[in-house]
Amino acid sequence: MKNSKLIQAASEFGSPLYIYDANKIKYQYNRLVKSFKSVKNLQLNYAVKALSNISILKYLIDLGSGIDAVSIQEVHLALKGGINPEKIIYTPNGVSMDEIKFASELGVKINIDNLSVLEDFGNSHPEIPICIRINPHIMAGGNSNISVGHIDSKFGISIHQIPHLKRIVENTKIRINGVHMHTGSDILDIDVFLRAAEILFETANHFKDLDFIDFGSGFKVPYYPGDSETNIEELGKKLSKRFNLFCKSYGKNLTLIFEPGKFLVSEAGKFICKVNSIKQTTSTVFAQVDSGFNHFLRPMMYGANHHIENISNPDDTERYYSIVGYICETDTFASNRKISTISIGDLLCFNNAGAYCHTMSSNYNSRYRPAEVLYINNQLKLIRKRENFDDLIRNQINIFNE
Ligand SMILES: Cc1ncc(COP(=O)(O)O)c(C=O)c1O
Repeated sequence: MKNSKLIQAASEFGSPLYIYDANKIKYQYNRLVKSFKSVKNLQLNYAVKALSNISILKYLIDLGSGIDAVSIQEVHLALKGGINPEKIIYTPNGVSMDEIKFASELGVKINIDNLSVLEDFGNSHPEIPICIRINPHIMAGGNSNISVGHIDSKFGISIHQIPHLKRIVENTKIRINGVHMHTGSDILDIDVFLRAAEILFETANHFKDLDFIDFGSGFKVPYYPGDSETNIEELGKKLSKRFNLFCKSYGKNLTLIFEPGKFLVSEAGKFICKVNSIKQTTSTVFAQVDSGFNHFLRPMMYGANHHIENISNPDDTERYYSIVGYICETDTFASNRKISTISIGDLLCFNNAGAYCHTMSSNYNSRYRPAEVLYINNQLKLIRKRENFDDLIRNQINIFNE
């Protein structure tokens, strides 16, 4: 998307603002499909948690995507987007049994990652097939908060618990229709991914009536010029070959599932905010913008490095800045960052604002969550209104004014 388009969007819809490029989402979707073209049955299930706007869901569903949902609310959103429930896989962790039963009544695939939950569910609903989430005990992922396949993780059923798992399956007569893993986000080493995949194949061999193997996600995308990324094409070549061999030995063409979030939407998103003030201190120059970690949490939550450009003045002398927000706590987006000279009123653009950005935003400091715009067919379409005071107060009850 050109800077002129981003500036136009900010002038039409105000700042701060999230903008998503539909073409980039489609490009990434097709890239992944192409990388696994030799697999007969491939299903990409978009991870709603990355960016849950209903227009984004509908766009991906129309491209052919299934859905990975981690809450009953995400299941409802996907159904509202018009998807067939069979194309949704629901992967809860630590939710109530009522929520799991409710999801199963809606006809979505159920993925369970806890033996006692499996036993309880199997006892009451032996007729509903279940996918099991395995913890392969592989350390992967770019940050300890997003690395979820290791031995201390709360996710998945340990591979060392397979004998107990099999006993529960025999006792309850439940059918296992899939095996799943998700080791973490920001995986760079393809060999680590393939090692985890081998563990999943071994697990799959314990169950004779599978329909699919779900390899989760965790593909790394570049966040700034020169940053690394998962080599999807190489992974596609290696894993497809291995998967096809496995299907041959298993005696059935299983479906290969991925659940990409970041890979599909991260780079498609831009976050635009406006500079409110420039403040020189003894150690740095702060550029303070009309936003904060309430709108854009990843730098504070994960230490994420999002590339930032001054789109109002892109070609001037570069200077060092700390880009911060207006929250009443330290909310640093970037420290000591070289950016084209910034003046009050300039628009800054944060890259990779598609995944885990708007979905993680809040009303902290009683600020309104930003609007969202989809750039599609050369048009800027508002897909979420900016919140206002009515939104902020809607669910609050002033018991002293009744
Ligand atoms: C179970 C599961 N699947 C898929 C994803 C999507 O991961 P990513 O955004 O790295 O593609 C996540 C992310 O947390 C996840 O927990």
